[in-house]
Amino acid sequence: MDQTSNPFADIGDMETFYERVAPYNLGCGWRSEDRDPGGKTYSSPYPNAHWKYADVRPALDAAAKLISAEDAGRRILMCVNPVEGGGKPGIGPTLFHAYQMVLPGETAPSHRHPMHALRVILDATKMYSVVEGEKTLMETGDVVLTPGGMYHSHIHDGDDPAYWLDGLDAPFTRALHLVIFEPHPDVYEPVKVVAEVSPFRFSWSDIQTMLDKAEDDPEGYFPRRVRLDTATMPTLGVYVQRLEAGQTTRMYRTNANTSFAPMQGSGVSIIEGEEIHWNRGDVFAAPTWRWIEHRADEDSVLFTMTDAPLLEFAKYYKFEGS
Ligand SMILES: [Fe+2]
Repeated sequence: MDQTSNPFADIGDMETFYERVAPYNLGCGWRSEDRDPGGKTYSSPYPNAHWKYADVRPALDAAAKLISAEDAGRRILMCVNPVEGGGKPGIGPTLFHAYQMVLPGETAPSHRHPMHALRVILDATKMYSVVEGEKTLMETGDVVLTPGGMYHSHIHDGDDPAYWLDGLDAPFTRALHLVIFEPHPDVYEPVKVVAEVSPFRFSWSDIQTMLDKAEDDPEGYFPRRVRLDTATMPTLGVYVQRLEAGQTTRMYRTNANTSFAPMQGSGVSIIEGEEIHWNRGDVFAAPTWRWIEHRADEDSVLFTMTDAPLLEFAKYYKFEGS
């Protein structure tokens, strides 16, 4: 390159350098405004957040009077973390929760999307999930999986409104710009088989049997817990843990993002010093690197969802006990 065609040859000061280099889409690693602001420890901008079923359920009931499931596509209320600067749907950078309600006899068209999804059934009888043509019961206390890329819909044969908590990896998919939504070509996916037992359904009684057989954590960080097999949706780690009345857990923190949804009972969790008093059907978020401990006021069951498998895959995962 000769001197006349080199735009950097005659620069005598930094301000001129910054002006000259900018059109080349280059950032200067020595300028704080150009760098990723990494600190010496993990820090999440997301506050702890808590959504109460007692608030959400009447809001869903009101929505049901105003909009049909068919018009809504899905009648859901999404949890939006009140992060500074304006939150998007999601409880953190990777995990998403929403509450959904279906009236008796209502149906919603089948669709699929890359996002992996699951449902924690809060109150439902004779509610069915159809995943890739397989019709499976989903009733109170069940955890039902809808892996990404599989068509899914619901059938409600019960007499009362059905309520559940959705859990997805949608903020992660959004960060990758991979969110798409594909309606089923037949609108409603035909039922091919009615399954009594399905790898997509963990019934409440199956979960209790697994918990009865589970070992206690010898170090006391976790109450008795089981990990549900979510190999078909590997971004999400899913656990169900059982706390006895009065039981407290030992404090720990992890750089994974975690959500907790009480399926039974009540208690308090302390997330980085903040007390979150929870009841059945609530959901609350523990963002990256916050100290976590639980205390049950009565016999309780906590559903837990985490992005730890993603962090483990990337070899980012960290855990620290008290
Ligand atoms: Fe969906």
